[in-house]
Amino acid sequence: MQISKSVGAKDIPSLVLRTAELGDIEDILHAQLTTFPDDPKNLVEEEFAKAIPGREHRLMVAIYESKFAGYVIVSNRPYRPWSSLDNLIVLPEFSRKGIGRRLLDEALKPLQRRPILRLFVEKNNHRAIGLYRKTGFLHLQTRKGNYENGDDALILYKFLWSTASDPAEQSSSERHAA
Ligand SMILES: CC(C)(COP(=O)(O)OP(=O)(O)OC[C@H]1O[C@@H](n2cnc3c(N)ncnc32)[C@H](O)[C@@H]1OP(=O)(O)O)[C@@H](O)C(=O)NCCC(=O)NCCS
Repeated sequence: MQISKSVGAKDIPSLVLRTAELGDIEDILHAQLTTFPDDPKNLVEEEFAKAIPGREHRLMVAIYESKFAGYVIVSNRPYRPWSSLDNLIVLPEFSRKGIGRRLLDEALKPLQRRPILRLFVEKNNHRAIGLYRKTGFLHLQTRKGNYENGDDALILYKFLWSTASDPAEQSSSERHAA
């Protein structure tokens, strides 16, 4: 198991980030169901279980004050130049503590061999878009009507060879690309 105490850009003393274990799947499924109750693209138990050995996937959980607070899953599917951020969830009672950002940082760490991270986010999901903008993602594509309700998905990319993860370090043109 890989454990990471929260250190770095924003230290959160009560936070532990670690690779998921089978015993976490119930909490993960519950978090997914309460956050996205009607999403037909939600992952099922077997998919999370398959992600735990971690060759094609990285599934990390956040434990805050000994309680499950959220998770992130990144996939490295074959024949793609990018890794995909499939899901990032922080439970509402733990929101705005910096946990989402720390989970994202952890998910990015082993991506050096495939240094592009791609994700889809619903165009009105302002909380998530705020987080992704702050961590250096660029909005390069839009997929019209991607969701069941007809809403568009923004397709965001983060290029890991850029050292500018803070918007303050990015050029003005990058900042306004999304
Ligand atoms: C998006 C999400 C993961 C953020 O988690 P979090 O732990 O609250 O995020 P952080 O505390 O690390 O916040 C990072 C940034 O996200 C944005 N953000 C987070 N919560 C926000 C809120 N309630 N309103 C506006 N912006 C918000 C802000 O830009 C924030 O930076 P700031 O605190 O410096 O202003 C969480 O809200 C979530 O799980 N949402 C539902 C699931 C989801 O939409 N996942 C993304 C799918 S693509």
